[in-house]
Amino acid sequence: MTDLALVVLAAGMGTRMNSVTPKVLHKIAGRTMLSHVLHAGRELSPRNAVIVHGPGKALVQTEARSIINNCEFAEQIDRLGTGHAVSMAKDILKRFAGVVLVLYGDAPLVKAQTLRALVRQIEGNTKMVVLGFEAANPHGYGRLITKDNHVLDIREELDCTENERSIRLCNSGIIAIDNALLWQLIPKLRNNNAKFEFYLTDLVKLANGAGSRVALAECREIEVAGVNDRLQLSTLERHFQNEARREAMLSGVTLIDPDTVYFSADTNLGKDVIIEPNVFFGSGVTVGDDVVILAHSHIEGATIAEGARIGPFARLRPGAEIGENAHIGNFVEIKQAVIGRGAKANHLSYIGDAKIGAGSNIGAGTITCNYDGFEKHFTDIGEKVFVGSNTSLVAPVKIGAGANIAASSVITRDVPADALALTRPELQIKDGWAKRYREVKQAAKDSKKKF
Ligand code: UD1
Ligand code: CA
Repeated sequence: MTDLALVVLAAGMGTRMNSVTPKVLHKIAGRTMLSHVLHAGRELSPRNAVIVHGPGKALVQTEARSIINNCEFAEQIDRLGTGHAVSMAKDILKRFAGVVLVLYGDAPLVKAQTLRALVRQIEGNTKMVVLGFEAANPHGYGRLITKDNHVLDIREELDCTENERSIRLCNSGIIAIDNALLWQLIPKLRNNNAKFEFYLTDLVKLANGAGSRVALAECREIEVAGVNDRLQLSTLERHFQNEARREAMLSGVTLIDPDTVYFSADTNLGKDVIIEPNVFFGSGVTVGDDVVILAHSHIEGATIAEGARIGPFARLRPGAEIGENAHIGNFVEIKQAVIGRGAKANHLSYIGDAKIGAGSNIGAGTITCNYDGFEKHFTDIGEKVFVGSNTSLVAPVKIGAGANIAASSVITRDVPADALALTRPELQIKDGWAKRYREVKQAAKDSKKKF
């Protein structure tokens, strides 16, 4: 296997995004476009990855390193074209022996298998491969001038003749090229074209001229669609969601109304999961087999074990770990808490910074008072604890296994195992009081009406 280096072009200003965030850091399915591209590239086990970025690299650098930790960075100050952008990686790659794969940071849907097929075509005298696609509307794209599956040249829209403009086979921008050939040809690029830019696409003609065959690989248009504004961002989001829904269903997940369920790029679903309408998965969710997620639940950063039942209207926040066969019901919010096997919190609760032992029952309206205005504190509930409705657990506090907390209690001290804890003002019952009250009030109202 030859070594591979990725070069990701990400120097675009993204003016049309109207954003202070660099374009490539806008998200699709909870994952930045840059991260999507690097995830795809990473599957090819590259030896190097170079991000060509514009001004303000800090955010881009942090994001890129979180996916490929030995990523390197080259700044492009003046944007003089795609060929110029790639040339920024020269100092980093000049001694590299292998194949360079150029990707666009704003074309996030490209699949690893497409890239793998592209790179594999480099062998023998084929030292360059171009990824092309049949465009529904080729306007704005570079057209591929081909002969017998060889690419002879790429002509940018503005430089096309009338005839060339009717070609629908277009350049995705993604290429693979032998590193030695790349640095041999880059100095030969000229900007004598309609845009006065150094076009990476001119490498095709130069490679042919240097005696190399330039091969063509093809993919679907959507895989290489780029994002320039938030409308295009939403188009790709929709496409991604539709694919994710399809994949989920084909792999054994029932979606009652697929169009209303939203996944993140990293959502991980087991088999025989059933998801009702209007469920949103933020980043970092893993769902075990046989889980049922009822309508209108919002789930993020959570792990849900086999057989659990979530919702309707449940909210699982980061750090929620729901045990096997546990039940989390309506209007229950769980944050940074481990819910034991078979435990239940079925109605109107907040459980944060807590551990609930197996088989415990958390009554309606129970709240872990985890925050004192300055710091967070932990609530530790043992196994098979019964917490009565409307209980406030003032953390830090520990409830021993098998304890029983009477309804409406405010628990400010630890409760030993198997004890009963209750805070209860005296209950007063006054016979006949309500009837007398009614009669007096009614008489007063009636006498007013007479006058
Ligand atoms: C480019 C291709 C065109 C192809 C199209 C696919 C060239 C000359 N043309 O055209 O054949 O059909 O992409 O979308 O390559 N970038 C930099 N620095 C620069 C210039 C660009 O980082 O100086 C980055 C951009 O941020 C973007 C990518 O390179 O991610 C493509 O640049 P763009 O200006 O959009 O190229 P197009 O004119 O669309
Ligand atoms: Ca473009």
